[in-house]
Amino acid sequence: MYEKAAQIIKSSKRCAAFTGAGISVESGIPPFRGKNGLWNKYDPQIFDIQYFNSHTRQSWEVIREIFYDLFGKVKPNAAHYALAELEANNMLSSVITQNVDNLHYDAGSKIVHEFHGSLKKLVCLNCATKYKISQIDLNILPPVCKKCNGILKPDVIFFGEAIPESASTMSFNETRKADCFILIGTTGTVAPANMIPSAAKSNGAKIIEINPYVSEYTNSVTDIFLEEKATTAMEKLMDKIEKL
Ligand code: APR
Repeated sequence: MYEKAAQIIKSSKRCAAFTGAGISVESGIPPFRGKNGLWNKYDPQIFDIQYFNSHTRQSWEVIREIFYDLFGKVKPNAAHYALAELEANNMLSSVITQNVDNLHYDAGSKIVHEFHGSLKKLVCLNCATKYKISQIDLNILPPVCKKCNGILKPDVIFFGEAIPESASTMSFNETRKADCFILIGTTGTVAPANMIPSAAKSNGAKIIEINPYVSEYTNSVTDIFLEEKATTAMEKLMDKIEKL
């Protein structure tokens, strides 16, 4: 299986990666669903835009606890670095990620389409001014805009919000051009992100999936299922690719 996956990646004209929370689990960030899933502990409504607008402070307190207190400390893992290496060796055109943890950039990936935005930035709900997280003191909640005093929210896509136009366009362009997609660590339960692998498949891409558990993709679009954790699978895959 690893041999076959390595051959597909090496011989592909254009390969893209599509990642979810699972690729960051071994960096210490819990997934949303499944074992130790965040949604087992917290109500997903904190990430609903209506709730955020009506319960801003409560929502911000939980978001800070789950993400900002944790995110400052986490580092990329071998799977993130392997994708950056594939890109550097011209074997990967881009990473489309549902993650908001910035770990692909931290690992050195250059072309990353952040389908759900990024926690590294905050955006003013009133005047749309964006701030780097380092510019804002999160000891005062909710944080406010320096220009218009409007409420700031993490520049991530809440349930009920539209996907960033550029990330969406670039990601769906990739599904038309790529002949190989590597899915890593995603359940496939959240639309419209979950349409990307099936769009790639219907355009003829070979789908390689890395996940220690079966996902919505495994028995529908996946051609090669590497039933492993992201770091183990990517290390084995890189080893096979080097030997080709
Ligand atoms: N290596 C690879 N995959 C793993 C690992 C690991 N070490 N550990 C868990 N997984 C897999 C799980 O089996 C599961 O399929 O990662 C996936 C995590 O699933 P989710 O938590 O649902 O993450 P994701 O698919 O990215 O969620 C999509 O849902 O809540 C929204 O916006 C949020 O972007 C997120 C979206």
